[in-house]
Amino acid sequence: KFEELALTPPMGWNSWNKFGCNVSESLIMEMADAMAERGMREAGYEYLVIDDCWQVGRDSLGNIIADPERFPSGMKILVDYVHSKDLKFGIYSCAGSMTCQSRPGSRGYQFQDARTYASWGVDYLKYDWCFDEGQKAEAAYKTMSDALKACGRPIVFSICEWGESEPWKWGKGIGHLWRTTADIRDCYQCTFDWGGLGILDIIDKQTDLYEFAGPGHWNDPDMLEVGNGGMTPDENKTHFSMWAMLAAPLMAGNDLRNLDKGTAEILMNEEVIAIDQDSDGHQARKFMDMGEYEIWAKPLADGEVAVCFLNRTDKVWKLDYDWKKQTMYFATDVSIHRNVYHVKDLWEHKIIGKTNENLVKEIPPHGSLLVRLSKLNK
Ligand code: GLA
Repeated sequence: KFEELALTPPMGWNSWNKFGCNVSESLIMEMADAMAERGMREAGYEYLVIDDCWQVGRDSLGNIIADPERFPSGMKILVDYVHSKDLKFGIYSCAGSMTCQSRPGSRGYQFQDARTYASWGVDYLKYDWCFDEGQKAEAAYKTMSDALKACGRPIVFSICEWGESEPWKWGKGIGHLWRTTADIRDCYQCTFDWGGLGILDIIDKQTDLYEFAGPGHWNDPDMLEVGNGGMTPDENKTHFSMWAMLAAPLMAGNDLRNLDKGTAEILMNEEVIAIDQDSDGHQARKFMDMGEYEIWAKPLADGEVAVCFLNRTDKVWKLDYDWKKQTMYFATDVSIHRNVYHVKDLWEHKIIGKTNENLVKEIPPHGSLLVRLSKLNK
């Protein structure tokens, strides 16, 4: 059933952030191999999604045509290959007449395209918003949603209209995730002005959206840039930690064929992924904002809590935190005033204290401290 897809935030890989239009059958097959062989699949990354530029036109009956030079075997064979690796296959289209790279969009062909995707075995559709031609976003996305619901195959629906018409207010039931911002860029705090947002700017835009996320319907702060070279290890850890806190879809966007150790340790940190994939599906709230420093909290299943201390500055944050002084006002069941919890550092993978003592820690510039509070008797 449509509503039962994506009960936790979807995880996978998407071609856009690293490869842009340079997609091909061989690239996707190599990425499928890498996902299966390098541990990504076991870590939970499930969907392999081709973004824009796979499509070149329509035949005389209006059927969408994949680029025959880049995809010589055709989509069905490629999808079968991805499925043979125990992965799911995702594809991309657009609610406008053209995609953002001026390839054919789905406007006027929604039901036909959905049937085509189903016949290929597609499991996930990312649906963009270029050349919208004055359509109303909610109606345009509902049309494709209806088409997917009627196509005879369960397909996760990723709404990509960049948050312009507040999809968090109407997206539930239409899609499973919706972009909340313009495109992510591979920098902590971007200084250019040609569009797109760095990590901090994206995080800021999620602050008020927590009430709209939950099992089957997620805010999407865009795909991961971890491993693409623009950020330091600490910045990449902050990026990944905060995406997990936000219950964000985790779509890796780097070249998995050359996965270095540091990148692998970030993308496949099981304890951080578990925060993202927690079955209660809460998005973190910022409960303390000290300007340069922030503290975010996310209630987890069984009364546990994830807490992320975020250092926005270029200097070390000398944290000396008294758990007793603060109330995480929304986590009533987990009142740290009544219980004592273990504090586990999810990057160092060790317990660093208890909530009845101060948390003293140096947090590096642009870094963060991500901890899980778990009950003492566990
Ligand atoms: C938009 C989307 C991106 C990507 C490109 C492809 O910019 O937001 O994620 O899909 O289009 O053209």
